[in-house]
Amino acid sequence: MGLKAYKGTIVHTPKLGAYEILEDGYIVVENDKVVGTYETLPGEYKNVAVKDYTGKMIIPGFVDLHFHAPQFSNRGLGLDKELLPWLETYTFPEEAKYKNLDYARAAYGKVVHELWRQGTTRAVLFGTIHRKATKALMEMLDDAGLGAMVGKVNMDRNSPPTYCEETKDSIEETKKFIEQTKDKYKLVKPIITPRFVPTCTPELMKALGKMAVEYGVPVQSHLDENRGEIGWVESLHPESDNYSTVYEEHGLFGKDVPTVMAHCIWNKPEEIKLMSERKMWVAHCPHSNTNLSSGIAPIRTYLENGVKVGLASDISGGHDVSIPRTIAAAAQSAKLRWVYLNDKEEILSTPEWLYLATKGGGEFFGKVGSFEPGYDFDALIIDDSSIADVNPRTVQERIERYIYVGDDRNIEARYVAGKFVPEPKF
Ligand code: GUN
Ligand code: FE
Repeated sequence: MGLKAYKGTIVHTPKLGAYEILEDGYIVVENDKVVGTYETLPGEYKNVAVKDYTGKMIIPGFVDLHFHAPQFSNRGLGLDKELLPWLETYTFPEEAKYKNLDYARAAYGKVVHELWRQGTTRAVLFGTIHRKATKALMEMLDDAGLGAMVGKVNMDRNSPPTYCEETKDSIEETKKFIEQTKDKYKLVKPIITPRFVPTCTPELMKALGKMAVEYGVPVQSHLDENRGEIGWVESLHPESDNYSTVYEEHGLFGKDVPTVMAHCIWNKPEEIKLMSERKMWVAHCPHSNTNLSSGIAPIRTYLENGVKVGLASDISGGHDVSIPRTIAAAAQSAKLRWVYLNDKEEILSTPEWLYLATKGGGEFFGKVGSFEPGYDFDALIIDDSSIADVNPRTVQERIERYIYVGDDRNIEARYVAGKFVPEPKF
C-alpha cells in the first residue's frame, strides 16, 4: 500500500476530555499506520497521492467492546423483561439455532453489513457455543475488511438442554477454535468467552483461564450486571467475596491477558480496585442497562480509579448498533444518575464520551482509536452537509451534532488499518 495522504478536517481525542482538531489538515498513512497529522503537507510527502476530503470531517472509526452477534435478529424483542427471564425466553432459543450453519451464515451476513453501515470498524463479539458457526462469522468479518475479536461461547451449567455443553467438549472445542483461528486472519482474532459465572462450572472456568495464558488470548465475559444475576452468583459461590473474585479465583480477571467485562454496574469498591490493578476493560452498555432494568454504571468512578472503559451496544440487550446513539444514551443515563442519586458521580463531557467510543475501547485492540503516530488508520469520512443549519458552526459543534443527530447517511467512506472498506457483499 505504501504512503498515502488524506485531506480533511481531522477530529480525534488523543487524550480523555478534549478534541484535537485540524481544519483542512492532512493525515499521512504508511501501509496500515498513521505517520502523522499536519496543517500543511510536509515537503517530504509532496509526491504522495492525496485523497481529498476537504470540507468533510475525518474521525476515528467506532469501537464496540461488547456485541452478541447471534442476537442481532432479536433486536427490540422482549425488552420489557429483566436479564434472567429475557435470556431464557428470547436469547438462548435464538442462539441455539446457530447449530445450523446455513442459518448462521444468513444471519451473520446481516450483522457484518450493519457493523459496516454504522461505522463500527472494530468489535468484540460473542458468537454461540458452536465452533463452526463462530468460525464462519470470523471468515465473513475478514472478508468484509472489518476488525474484530470473536468468541466461541462456553456454557456447561444452568443452560437449557438444547443449548448447553459437556465440560470436556466445551474445553476441547475451544482449544480447537483457538488453534484454527489465532493466526488465520490479520484483523480478526479469537477471544476466550465464558458466558458468565452462572453458566460455567468451576472446572470449565479454570480450564479457560489456563488456556488464555497458554495461548496468550484475551478474555471477555459479563460482570455485575443485574441484581437478580448477582444474587444468583452469590448463592452459587458463597466461598467467594464477590462476583469479581469468582473470576479471579479461576484465572479470568486480567492478570495475564487483556480482559473485558461487560456492564460492571454494581461493582463494589474492592472490585473496582482489583480491576484498576489488572489489564481490565469495562464495556459500558447504556442501552442494554436501561432496557433490561439493570442500572446505570458509574463510569466517572471507573475513570477516576484508572479503570479502562469502552462503549458497547450489547446487542440485543441493547437495541441499536450505532455507537453515536450509544454515546447519547450513555450521556443521558449518566445525567439521570447524577440528578437522582446525587452520589457525586459527575457526568462526562461529549469529548470524553467520544474518547471512550474510539480510543478507550480501541486500546483493547492495541494502537487503535486515534490518529496519533503509530496508530492503525481506522477512519470514517463524515459529510455532515445534510445536517447543517443556517448558522456557521465550529468544528466542535459539527462533531457534536453529528454524534447526536447524524446517522449512517453521513458516513461517506470507512477505512480499517489503512484499507478502504467497501460495502460488504453479504
Ligand atoms: N449475561 C449472560 N449472557 C448475557 C447476554 O446474552 N446478554 C446480557 N446483556 N447479559 C448476559
Ligand atoms: Fe452481553
